[in-house]
Amino acid sequence: MSRKMKNKVITNLTIERIATEGKCVGHHEGKVVFVQGVAPGDVVDVRITRGKSSFMEGEAIRFHEYSKDRIAPFCAHFGTCGGCKWQHINYDLQKTYKRQQVVDQFTRIAKVDIPEVLPILGSAQTQYYRNKLDFTFSNNRWLTREEIDSGADFERNALGFHIPKMFDKIVDIEHCYLQGDISNDVRNELRDFALSNSLTFYDIRNQVGLLRNLIIRTTSTGESMVIVQFGGDNQDEIELVMNFLHEKFPQITSLLYIINLKKNETFHDLEVVTFAGKAYIEEEMEGLKFRIGPKSFYQTNSDQAYELYKVTREFAALQGDEVVYDLYTGTGTIANFVAKQAKQVIGIEYVEAAIVDAKLNSAVNGLENTLFYAGDMKDMLNDEFIAQHARPDVIITDPPRAGMHEDVVNMLLKLAAPKIVYVSCNPATQARDVALLADKYSVDKIQPVDMFPQTYHVENVVLLTLKS
Ligand SMILES: C[S@@+](CC[C@H](N)C(=O)[O-])C[C@H]1O[C@@H](n2cnc3c(N)ncnc32)[C@H](O)[C@@H]1O
Repeated sequence: MSRKMKNKVITNLTIERIATEGKCVGHHEGKVVFVQGVAPGDVVDVRITRGKSSFMEGEAIRFHEYSKDRIAPFCAHFGTCGGCKWQHINYDLQKTYKRQQVVDQFTRIAKVDIPEVLPILGSAQTQYYRNKLDFTFSNNRWLTREEIDSGADFERNALGFHIPKMFDKIVDIEHCYLQGDISNDVRNELRDFALSNSLTFYDIRNQVGLLRNLIIRTTSTGESMVIVQFGGDNQDEIELVMNFLHEKFPQITSLLYIINLKKNETFHDLEVVTFAGKAYIEEEMEGLKFRIGPKSFYQTNSDQAYELYKVTREFAALQGDEVVYDLYTGTGTIANFVAKQAKQVIGIEYVEAAIVDAKLNSAVNGLENTLFYAGDMKDMLNDEFIAQHARPDVIITDPPRAGMHEDVVNMLLKLAAPKIVYVSCNPATQARDVALLADKYSVDKIQPVDMFPQTYHVENVVLLTLKS
């Protein structure tokens, strides 16, 4: 950025709206200004932190007027923790902006004819809606400005969430409003136990320390999975921690641990040890059971996942004689959810363990018309695969945030299935992919679904129909 711009203060900037990725926007001398931590309707002084020829970014340093849509954030960690950035905006407005994000992405990126975007399906629960949280242990707790200024010595070990954009700073979480049940108790009790037993918290810079990461997963059926990742392999200390959790929380139905001596926290390639209980938890939907293993993806808002799957099923409008491909199937949740209405469902997914669960899920539910395959979509979905399987009448695709690989999009064009139901957690990449499919497909329905209240994230389902 030009030196002239850095630290420049713009006074009395009116925040006009929320743009993509939840950034609040105002205008100054013809340029867009993105500001953190404000709401549409606020009037603020902004210190510029970054400036480019077409836009600037800055932080609010003084409020002149507050938006009428502001509400008091409910969490003590709001503003520090990166988790729920929209707590200060009322939920109705959150939903309006989420829907608008979908409209904007399809107008600006897809640039294809679209029908009126349907009203967003809001989440009945706007707190405690997540079934999975991932906490990090650190010997480098984030200190507030007041703590630093006080000059006092503070406990530096922490168990909580990363400060946005800082890989080595963790905000110690006392209460998180995202996950209910035993989540807060397990985290706080484990932290206290570790501190009172002088167990080491992970030092990410030097890659040492016993306690590294804590994952808590819960289900609507009351089951819970707790996974502790250890950054060291001292078996006595590991036993101490795991026995503590087992005795203190007998209600945990799947108590697991992983020894991770690698540089990163991913564990798809590591052994998961079942310390007590089962190696999985089970979710239930319309009487169907879904087995979820430690390495498997499951939609993080279970109630809204049900709404999302109902929309997907409605858009697919199956009559019972269709072959359905469920791409990026995860543990086969959508595949199994629609299987009773289809002749055959074929699911493809990258993670092998998820495919094992997907097959088990079909077996557990007595579904015999599903097939599942593990592998990278762009390699799996090729001419040979198509030759060996029935051609699809309906394709359901639910890729990760990055969207579909171009080879996969090209294969969809080649397959020319009568219908594609495209589920996405990132309308920007979805709009990009829809643009690539637009030669052969028209966009017939667009249904945003809110899976993540208090954040800017929005899930979106699009029905694409083959042009005649
Ligand atoms: C958004 S999730 C959808 C899961 C599933 N449809 C559901 O609702 O539970 C995306 C899935 O795509 C898988 N995935 C990511 N990249 C992939 C790739 N290149 N090939 C195949 N699967 C992939 C992930 O492992 C994940 O399970």
